[in-house]
Amino acid sequence: MPEFSLPQAPLQRLDLPWLQQAGIEAATLRLDLIDPLISGNKWFKLRHHLLEARQAGSPGLISLGGNHSNHLHALAAAGKRFGFATAGLLRGHEQDTPTVRDLRALGMQLHWLGYGGYRARHNVDFWLPWHERYPGWHCIPEGGGGLLGAQGCALIVMQCRAQLALLGWQDYDAWWLAAGTGTTLAGLVLAEAGAHPVHGALAVPLDHGGPETVASLCGAQGYTLHEASRGGFARIDDELLAFIAETEQQAGMPLEALYTGKALLALRDQVEAGRFTPGTRLVFLHTGGLQGRRGYL
Ligand SMILES: Cc1ncc(COP(=O)(O)O)c(C=O)c1O
Repeated sequence: MPEFSLPQAPLQRLDLPWLQQAGIEAATLRLDLIDPLISGNKWFKLRHHLLEARQAGSPGLISLGGNHSNHLHALAAAGKRFGFATAGLLRGHEQDTPTVRDLRALGMQLHWLGYGGYRARHNVDFWLPWHERYPGWHCIPEGGGGLLGAQGCALIVMQCRAQLALLGWQDYDAWWLAAGTGTTLAGLVLAEAGAHPVHGALAVPLDHGGPETVASLCGAQGYTLHEASRGGFARIDDELLAFIAETEQQAGMPLEALYTGKALLALRDQVEAGRFTPGTRLVFLHTGGLQGRRGYL
């Protein structure tokens, strides 16, 4: 459906002193630039859901997330743009954040589930009352995860390959990206089918189910997960903030602290530890999320 055709993300050189010192060439695929609202990996994760909802004639889209959720933000924007009503099921109690204000302005119906109610989201009967309340609406798992999300993310690989010649590259050696649920990473692994390894910097602790989700979506091979949460999801420390400020200056590219900043800092640690041999060509996937910065800056 041309209605949901994906905008092209630019592939740009990524020059940073610690990459140069290690003899590593890097590029970044700037998903943050594809759209002012449906930004980053979210467009890719949502695409197949939008297609399925349209084909089924669903009047609306419903999903879950937190008060700063990049996913709900993109979903609300996509609903408004493509003519779907939207409903968001939020973690915790009602809060007024910049993201929540945007969700309302974009017309999303909001329901705060409390913490216990949100924890029940994996229960088999969780969706029943919402199906009754919003009949025929298309339900999207938390964070746009699941196979439909991963299938959309597989398209990211083609966007990268189509632009390699612009950098004078014939090929690349590996991907590096932030992972939360691991859906985006799984999409890359599926598309690569072993051609290039994919490194995921896990922004949530390892025991939050990321490794299991990735394995269920794409198996056990073709990727490596690195712990990069720095003590917990959404934990921000001074070293991270200083690294982000410095990297933004050096690379001329904005980052946020929850995913892309943590991922790039984890990459620096690995590069400095000698994980990649000189001459390696890496693609860092900028997964967007910049709207969320307003919540903690
Ligand atoms: C900016 C950003 N990067 C990366 C991720 C992680 O994506 P995934 O859940 O597909 O691993 C998210 C998830 O919400 C995100 O908002």
